[in-house]
Amino acid sequence: MNIAIHGLGYVGTVLLAYLSSLGHFVNGYDVDESKTELLSRGHSPFSEPGVEELLTTHRYSYSVYSSSPGSLNKVKATFICVGTPYRHPEGLDYSYITRCIDTICLHAQVNPQLYCSPHPIFIRSTIDALFYNRLTRYYNAAYPDHPAEFFFVAFPEFLREGSALEDITDTGSLNIYFSPAYQSLVSSILSDLFPGHNTIPTSLSAATSIKMVSNSWHALKVAFTNEVSRVLHSSGLDSADVFRVFALDHKLNISSAYMKPGFAFGGSCLPKDLNGLVSLGRTNGIDTPLLSSTLASNPNYINDVISEMEAQSFDSLYMYGLSFKEGTDDLRNSPFLKIALHFCQSKSVFIYDKCLSESSARNAASRSAYMSLGSAGDSMQSLADFKYALSKATARDVFVVCHKLPAELIEMIASLPPFTIFPLGNRLPGTLPQSQVTFV
Ligand SMILES: NC(=O)c1ccc[n+]([C@@H]2O[C@H](COP(=O)([O-])OP(=O)(O)OC[C@H]3O[C@@H](n4cnc5c(N)ncnc54)[C@H](O)[C@@H]3O)[C@@H](O)[C@H]2O)c1
Repeated sequence: MNIAIHGLGYVGTVLLAYLSSLGHFVNGYDVDESKTELLSRGHSPFSEPGVEELLTTHRYSYSVYSSSPGSLNKVKATFICVGTPYRHPEGLDYSYITRCIDTICLHAQVNPQLYCSPHPIFIRSTIDALFYNRLTRYYNAAYPDHPAEFFFVAFPEFLREGSALEDITDTGSLNIYFSPAYQSLVSSILSDLFPGHNTIPTSLSAATSIKMVSNSWHALKVAFTNEVSRVLHSSGLDSADVFRVFALDHKLNISSAYMKPGFAFGGSCLPKDLNGLVSLGRTNGIDTPLLSSTLASNPNYINDVISEMEAQSFDSLYMYGLSFKEGTDDLRNSPFLKIALHFCQSKSVFIYDKCLSESSARNAASRSAYMSLGSAGDSMQSLADFKYALSKATARDVFVVCHKLPAELIEMIASLPPFTIFPLGNRLPGTLPQSQVTFV
């Protein structure tokens, strides 16, 4: 297959070496002549294990240019691998990508044979969704005559310098893309270029955000491990051994547990143990900005929801669920309780929580929370009472969903006048009639 690559830095050169080695023909472009000069002699512009060997062996499978459109016609797919450097304070600079689109379109206007049409332009550079949409608008506005039927596929690159070839050939690695059109064309091109890889289509959100989210997560893990290690070292403890054991737990520690977008954390353990580690650091004179800001970030979610609710100037508040975790009667540090407490003096508040409302053995901590809730606590008798109260709801009321709604309540909500629902913790079932409620 004939391929074009724009940008021959780490990402572009590794891709060029990899695709040439599979027997494809590649036109490579880079504005930096020093790179194209080296590549034209079969040398890599940077040191990366195995890349130079592939370039030398497959030298006649690629051509490199710094200005002309290249020698290949009927190019079937184009890859954009130019830099997207961070500029402070504006953010990532995407201007190199836009410049590439100009180059591609101008080349296509001069030589209509150059690109097969429709023609996917795979963006391997790191971009966000706003830029993706802006790029599409830019292309449509600047090139209304569409020199070829170009469309943009967000195709993030995950290779790591130092093991780039290993990563690009690893069929077990994550290969995701978002294409707005021509799904079967894109899928067949990608399976030819990345044979044996599990290459899967995703949403625009995932394809454009995943790279920044993954790298921020990696940076967070490094900073977390180092900060905690300093605290442990300051008490004479072996942090390497602690993290070795920590990483053995694949159920909660090294896993997707706790990675579902939702609401603030609570309960007795997370806030307490986090506070414990921060105070151990403080005692030993170790600054813990990351751990401390984790504590500081949690109330933000609660305060934001309270502000959004206040902005509704509602009459009554209905809450489904109150304990920090569904299926328990533990109210310690429950973020939902904080919301109830905030409104219980000024509004009519009706709460139902399966474990708390129907359990006769309320624990001591819960009992004192009930007391502070006043009449809202008294209202927590049974599901039947809650349903009776809910049957009187008007459009001026709000419903905060903290735990998973049972089918009978979903049905009931569908028959009520529309009111605002706060789906905290992402606990709303897809079956809830969207037309009936305003989601916040
Ligand atoms: N380096 C990595 O490990 C890595 C991994 C995954 C993703 N990425 C992302 O891939 C993109 C490229 O990264 P990189 O490390 O290869 O960058 P790089 O700076 O090494 O290479 C970018 C190349 O693009 C060239 N270029 C700039 N404008 C051009 C234009 N208009 N036409 C043709 N060439 C042009 C530059 O001369 C340079 O050689 C970035 O968005 C980066 O975030 C990088």
